Amino acid sequence: MTRTGAPRPHPAASPPPGVSSLPPIGPFRRLRTALSLAGLAQWLTVPALTAMVAMLTRDEDLAVRAQAIGGTLALMLLPAVLLAPLAGLLAARVDRRLMLLIADVLRLVIIVTVPLVDLAAWTLAAAFLVGCLSLLWVCAARAALPALVPDPDGEPGAHRTATRVIYGPAPAAAVLFAVLALIADGTLGRGSRADLALYAAAGIFAVSAAAVAAVREIPVRAMPAVPAPLRLLFQGPGTAAARGLGLAIAGAFLAGGAVAAVARVHTGVLGGGDAGYGTVLAGLAIGFGFGVFLGPRVLVPFSRRRLNGLAVVAAALALGVLALVQNLVVVVFMTAFLGVFAGAAWSTATTAVTDPDTPEDVRPPAYLRSVALVTALVAFLAAPLVTGAIGTHRIDLGDGGHDFAGSSAALLIAAAGALLSGLLAYRRADDRRGIPLVPDLHAALHGEIYTPPEQAAAEPQPVHRNRGVLIAFEGGEGAGKTTQARLAAIWLRDHGYDVVTTHEPGATKIGMRLRAMLLDRDTTGLSDRAETLLYAADRADHVANVIKPAMDRGAIVVSDRYVDSSLAYQGFGRRQPVEDIARVNAWATGGLVPDLTVLLEIPPEAGLRRLPAPADRIESEPQDFHERVRAGFRALAEADPDRYLILDASRPQGELSREIQYRIREILPDPVPAGTEDATSTFPAIRDA
Ligand code: TYD
Repeated sequence: MTRTGAPRPHPAASPPPGVSSLPPIGPFRRLRTALSLAGLAQWLTVPALTAMVAMLTRDEDLAVRAQAIGGTLALMLLPAVLLAPLAGLLAARVDRRLMLLIADVLRLVIIVTVPLVDLAAWTLAAAFLVGCLSLLWVCAARAALPALVPDPDGEPGAHRTATRVIYGPAPAAAVLFAVLALIADGTLGRGSRADLALYAAAGIFAVSAAAVAAVREIPVRAMPAVPAPLRLLFQGPGTAAARGLGLAIAGAFLAGGAVAAVARVHTGVLGGGDAGYGTVLAGLAIGFGFGVFLGPRVLVPFSRRRLNGLAVVAAALALGVLALVQNLVVVVFMTAFLGVFAGAAWSTATTAVTDPDTPEDVRPPAYLRSVALVTALVAFLAAPLVTGAIGTHRIDLGDGGHDFAGSSAALLIAAAGALLSGLLAYRRADDRRGIPLVPDLHAALHGEIYTPPEQAAAEPQPVHRNRGVLIAFEGGEGAGKTTQARLAAIWLRDHGYDVVTTHEPGATKIGMRLRAMLLDRDTTGLSDRAETLLYAADRADHVANVIKPAMDRGAIVVSDRYVDSSLAYQGFGRRQPVEDIARVNAWATGGLVPDLTVLLEIPPEAGLRRLPAPADRIESEPQDFHERVRAGFRALAEADPDRYLILDASRPQGELSREIQYRIREILPDPVPAGTEDATSTFPAIRDA
């Protein structure tokens, strides 16, 4: 929020003076588009090659056919399990642009030969070769995109973009495959071939290769070595909780892998053909993506680790239903549900293990990736074996008989395995031991955190304490911290706490004059050190006259900005020694450190766009200044995870407030007793100090 400053045009409309032109983003965008296309083609090869094998083995018996299909999937995945470190090494040494080009062109050539050669053995070999090239491509893509970001601070974002372009096109590819199969059925007759999908994939690879060729240069940057999945798996993670989460991932991928492996045979049994197969895969992929999105967003007050175990149990149940109900529509819907739960299990596990309290050396996300890869590989191989071994039987229940397909049995066994993993994972990783699940879930559905009655009774009602609590809200421009600080204050007051809301700079009379000097754009030539000292002076006055007195009477002080703003803006932003600024501020505040600092994270571009009012002196600093400030806040928060809550400010306001409330409860010496929300009737007005 801007409280002073001369009028100026909106930052989105025209850059304020001093803002340098944006970094050259052209090559990054072009490469992103090229990689998305290659990603689409890569995912399209998966159903296309399996459908091709299914077609070429259509006269064989069920066992051979099922194993050929599962084998195709396994061969495509095998390189990722065995050769990942090698591919990582190559991507670090060889020209990335060249590697991307080679991967696209060779995959194109191999795929075109598959319908021409028209042999199951060659299709299987092609699956392995395409798998190797796709692994190389993934490593090169991961290295190339971040290398095109001019500012190293933007790299984390580029890594996320890389993940998105690599895995994001999977649902679209499955849908495309289903559509192409329908078209082929319509034009070439039922039971037609996967040629169309293969040629389409080849065509998309060609366009991607042309687009990569148009990206002139991709600078070489050092990248970390890629760990070997099998080694990580055998080493195992360091903590029982991470092992529990690994079990959950194994359950989720066993369920998903089994469906993918037998889907072609199973949909064949149900009369769905290739189009049905594509639809099932689309359900799985879309569901998974949706689940990954939902994982951190649903039931916010509920423990993520509990949610993780429950999601796997739910995925197993969905798999059980889809195994038993022999109807294509039900199968598609249940697969989609399975996907949602597996996706939620994945995102809750990966976010839980990147949790600051999990030891560094465990490298859990890599460990979880390895678990996922190896479990999927096992599922691809085992589910068809079971399918073939059991075969199809006619069961007569007195109504003419039902076919019981081996694929149903395989899916049921996978469901039982996933269920067991889910339950064990829940027990191992549970971080709310002793708290019954049903009321916990019930409270979470109402946006509450459950406190057992005996604990609630033992908790004293909020009273004035000897020392209050200081909660700071920090973040870049337009992150919404002012709003969240106000909402937190409303919530706390609503629970009967004495709350003082305040802000920096300018919460006192002297502070307001300092603020005017600091933020007015007419202030020119202010030295960085003077700026730092003026903010520190404002803070000293703020602590002495507002914060300290309030805390002495036991109040909760909610401050919109505090010392970290100086560390981030004057330290990281202005490139002054952060330790010096910390020392000056420790002296200015008498060493008063917040009990909790909520950091609202937002990319500067987006934050500045959100600002309604004209820019002040600091807001009109160039983009790279704000990027450094953002990186600074992050570094501070990551260095002291116990004291910080880092939140993605782009998430819905309600969710953010709930997470903040969840965390505030933890630091309050007298936690808010559950259920008191409903009992309060007044809605106190907010008075800024
Ligand atoms: P303000 O209008 O209060 O904006 P916001 O809503 O973003 O808090 O302006 C405060 C500005 O002062 C903001 O751009 C950040 C900057 N600032 C510092 O550079 N150092 C500091 O120590 C503090 C407290 C603020």
